[in-house]
Amino acid sequence: MEQNPKNTGNMATDDANYSMETHLIYGKNESNKWDYSHHVVAPLSSSVIFRLDSAERGAEGFMEFANTATFGEENKPIYIYDRLGEPNKDLLEENLAYAEKGECAVTFGSGMGAISGCLGMLTKSGDEIIAHRSLYGCTYSLLNNWYPRYNIRTHHTDLTDLNNLHNLINKNTRVIYFETPSNPTLDVMDIRAIADIIQVVNNERKDTEKIYVVVDNTFATPFCQRPIEYGADFVVHSLTKGIGGFGTDMGGVVIGKKQFRDLLLLVRKDFGAVLGTKAAWSILTYGLPTLHLRISRQMQSAQKIAEFLAVHPAIEYVNYPGLPGHRQHEIATKQMRDFTNNFAPGSLIYFVIKGDNYDDMKNNGRLLMNYAAKNAYTLTLAVSLGHTRTLIEHPASMTHSVMPASELLAANIHPGGIRLAVGLENPDDIINDLKSCLSIF
Ligand SMILES: Cc1ncc(COP(=O)(O)O)c(C=O)c1O
Repeated sequence: MEQNPKNTGNMATDDANYSMETHLIYGKNESNKWDYSHHVVAPLSSSVIFRLDSAERGAEGFMEFANTATFGEENKPIYIYDRLGEPNKDLLEENLAYAEKGECAVTFGSGMGAISGCLGMLTKSGDEIIAHRSLYGCTYSLLNNWYPRYNIRTHHTDLTDLNNLHNLINKNTRVIYFETPSNPTLDVMDIRAIADIIQVVNNERKDTEKIYVVVDNTFATPFCQRPIEYGADFVVHSLTKGIGGFGTDMGGVVIGKKQFRDLLLLVRKDFGAVLGTKAAWSILTYGLPTLHLRISRQMQSAQKIAEFLAVHPAIEYVNYPGLPGHRQHEIATKQMRDFTNNFAPGSLIYFVIKGDNYDDMKNNGRLLMNYAAKNAYTLTLAVSLGHTRTLIEHPASMTHSVMPASELLAANIHPGGIRLAVGLENPDDIINDLKSCLSIF
């Protein structure tokens, strides 16, 4: 009997016939990881250990783990212990790699687990990282509070200016790291241009000295942008955000070339930042299948809200890649494209409240947060993003408070800057709440 493609779920070969949106709903019902072809939704595996039947099968499982070169990847895995691998994570990884157009994915317990796993795999003592000047606060802390202990140095620079990249590359450079759009300022880096520069440098280098381009694609999600298509070597995500989508589970992922899968599995096994099976299942069942619906709705609202904020008298400026006035609007138009190639500038907005000086602006940011927390129904004062609810926060006193004032200014993170992560509410309700909050100035 001929099989219905949604039951065999062979996404790679069905690629031409069905869209990404459809594939992310069905995923693979029958995979070499786990056959659940008679379930409509993947079952939730909650077994930390797996029965091995015999000492020989156990020995084989340990030999096969993270040993793709010898054993290939088409074998049915012999599951041993959750920290090494289990079916829900494996199924999610197949779908995430597919959505990002990468060769493989390895999940982690959080976005920071994925970032530290990827950078930990790529660097060693004496190596250097070149990173964009504005980054998520904990990534900044990882690079500046922890990596110097291991003799790994980070140069922060403005990667929207490619001259800075040219000037900083040296023989010790191993990683170029950035978020695009960046947290919280929404700078947009030209992924293709950066990858091209690195390719030229790498052509002259031995394998052990190559430089890797790592892009944190959390703000865009694969719905808006797939950096590997533009030459990035690795994509990292906090799955806690837009991909998870409901604010119920934490997770992270590294997506890249197959040749790195084994090393990433070993990093995850030994450093231990493992994604919980329940989180993997939620992201697979709820997050990925609804990604396109949620992000396209949030994006339409974000455009409307950004246009409202851009002409408000209390606001100094607005950064939203969908506004023609955004400094890298052209680049955003080129590389931020949804699954069907429409411009997809994302669901985050950064805006700066006016003020007379640094302290005044920072204070205005705080006043706005406190007013919103008490009075605005559709603005929730909370960190994170990519939620069903619109979340508002003041980076200088919250997510980026690990950075001293001088470093915040060097990173162009303004004391009066506000990050708005647009949710699924009616955009007119959000605008009305913002209007009443901004009326305090
Ligand atoms: C851009 C970006 N990357 C990484 C992270 C870290 O993710 P997690 O909180 O899942 O560790 C965050 C968290 O806000 C983020 O905004």
